Amino acid sequence: MSKITKITKAVIPAAGFGTRFLPITKSIPKEMLPVIDKPIIQIVVEELVEAGIKDIILVVSPYKRAIEDYFNPHFELETLLEKNNKAKELKEIRRLFRLANFIFIRQKQMGGNGDAILTAAPAVGNDPFLAFWGDDFMVAKPSRARQLLAAFEKCQSSVLATIRTQKAEDGAKYGFAVGKTVDERIIKVEKLIEKPGIGKAPSPWAVICGAYTPAFFSALEKAKKKLGEGKELYYIDGLNILRETDPLFALELANVRYYDAGNKLDYLKTVVEFGLKHKEVGKKFREYLNGIKK
Ligand code: G1P
Repeated sequence: MSKITKITKAVIPAAGFGTRFLPITKSIPKEMLPVIDKPIIQIVVEELVEAGIKDIILVVSPYKRAIEDYFNPHFELETLLEKNNKAKELKEIRRLFRLANFIFIRQKQMGGNGDAILTAAPAVGNDPFLAFWGDDFMVAKPSRARQLLAAFEKCQSSVLATIRTQKAEDGAKYGFAVGKTVDERIIKVEKLIEKPGIGKAPSPWAVICGAYTPAFFSALEKAKKKLGEGKELYYIDGLNILRETDPLFALELANVRYYDAGNKLDYLKTVVEFGLKHKEVGKKFREYLNGIKK
């Protein structure tokens, strides 16, 4: 088999309604919620770019215009910043749309996270790609994107990135990979189960994102055909079809801290942690929190 080419494309499905976060998500995409001064999706994009990704395909919906606007130029604002000699702000604004080649595709219906990934197929073509969600991110060393890309190079087949979970309630939060360890931190996947329920996790490996060969798209197509009309397509259903024909691996990420900002409590924890570390306001914020502790 010829060696699989280097991954330079990433898909970020960002078309969901964000119902765990209503009412704010009625008009603000959950991916645009701020971690102090940056939206969550920017943190995800920056991680991908740092790892060598050039093309980022964002799958959005008609209600997610704010994401498209954020990664596009804003000429009036740029002219104003230029006129007022706000060089630092201007640089930051222009850096955003130069981060990568952004391609926006609208999902035609709310068809589930598998359907969202499948929507990106025409833009990805016959190349391998990463798929990251736009509402969770990680701080890891090396970054999760770099760890995942290295595992993909090594396995020469699709690889899922997982975190080790211990809490009973995690069984209701994640999709899980079941299989045997075949190499350091690498599992050969035998089965995947989407959100088995509290206390029902079949393994410690919660799936967070993945690096895929284009065969994943054909598997998603097959899974979609099997589903009845109007049913949501989960990416896990596509993966269970993919592993029947192609070896599928899962990597247990190392030195990782996972920030799920898709629900209220975890989002709040994320903001507080990043607030405490923030260059401009971190010190004062810590003093403030110490003052209100009791
Ligand atoms: C999605 C996936 C799930 C995965 C999780 C990771 O769930 O369906 O398999 O483990 O992301 O964040 P969601 O968080 O959209 O409910």
